[in-house]
Amino acid sequence: MSATMTVLTGIKPTGPLHIGNYLGAIRPANELARRPEYRPFLFIADYHALTLTGMRDPAEFRRYSREVAAGWLALGLDTSRTVFYRQSDIPEVFELAWILSCTTPKGLMDRAHAYKAAVQQNAEVGADPDAGVNMGLYNYPILMAADILLLRADLVPVGRDQAQHLEFARDIAQYFNAAYRPVLTLPEPLIRDDVAVIAGTDGRKMSKSYRNVIPLFAPPQELRKSVMRIVTDSSAPEEPKDPATSILFAIYREFAAPEQVEAMRERYRVGVSWGEVKEELFSLLDSFLSGPRRTYEEYMANPDRIEAILREGAERARAEARPVIEDMRRAIGRT
Ligand code: ADP
Ligand code: TRP
Repeated sequence: MSATMTVLTGIKPTGPLHIGNYLGAIRPANELARRPEYRPFLFIADYHALTLTGMRDPAEFRRYSREVAAGWLALGLDTSRTVFYRQSDIPEVFELAWILSCTTPKGLMDRAHAYKAAVQQNAEVGADPDAGVNMGLYNYPILMAADILLLRADLVPVGRDQAQHLEFARDIAQYFNAAYRPVLTLPEPLIRDDVAVIAGTDGRKMSKSYRNVIPLFAPPQELRKSVMRIVTDSSAPEEPKDPATSILFAIYREFAAPEQVEAMRERYRVGVSWGEVKEELFSLLDSFLSGPRRTYEEYMANPDRIEAILREGAERARAEARPVIEDMRRAIGRT
């Protein structure tokens, strides 16, 4: 392994960003990118999003990729260090995915959690096992392996839900290396277990699929409304409250300075009204987000700027990818 390690991760653009995405993915990625021992690569996995039947509106597909790019840029992504690009701008990824699909046994894909879950859901309602399953969903892990292997990533930071995909990427590399010769580097997963799972307004994990999110870039009135929606218990204002079970506190502590967190903890101890806590959480979030929101809006009003940044990133990524794909072509005997 070289002195600096290539760290790579992909983000699927499937909807507006929320504070769970910021705390669970964007903030940790920014922290990692600042470390001198890493060479960070970050890309928008737009063609992975095509496996979702809900993404077939072209205007929406275009908008989500832009929103994700603008959001990451607005929240401090440093493109002088991080190579930031869009998957679909790298044709070599799709060539590699095909080559890999020819050395990967079908049985490996049959074991993929996402595919198995779809089959099981069909079984539960008595439908055909493969109803609604497109080949993109089935091949998803091979495309993801291609993203990773093409850039010779050493380390891939992902959430726990992606652990199997990382195991598959290693397996897929080994199948190719064994069939031809050892061209591909095996990536190591970096599972972010230390990052808290942020609860949404209804108490379940914050997720766009549950419509319980606190958005990052909504106008202040909308941000305020989502904070006001956060569920609380029915205790009276003067009753002491437990910070450990409070969604409001869990979010507050992530954004507040240590002394603010301690002061809030004390107010919970002596009793505070949920309304007051909500107002404070809202103003904390609003002051944190007002700068990024402006930058985000500037980017969204200038999609050409976003395009230029992503294109420049794609050139840098392709320069890294070229020797790998050329080595692959030599290995299989195409050249
Ligand atoms: P969603 O659940 O809204 O569809 P994604 O699955 O697109 O979100 O997640 C994108 C990234 O944000 C992943 O790295 C994921 O781990 C992180 N993330 C999403 N929701 C949360 C959450 N509630 N708490 C912490 N991290 C989260
Ligand atoms: N599958 C990942 C997700 O759903 C996104 C992704 C695509 C990815 N390609 C990747 C993550 C390569 C890490 C490395 O979140």
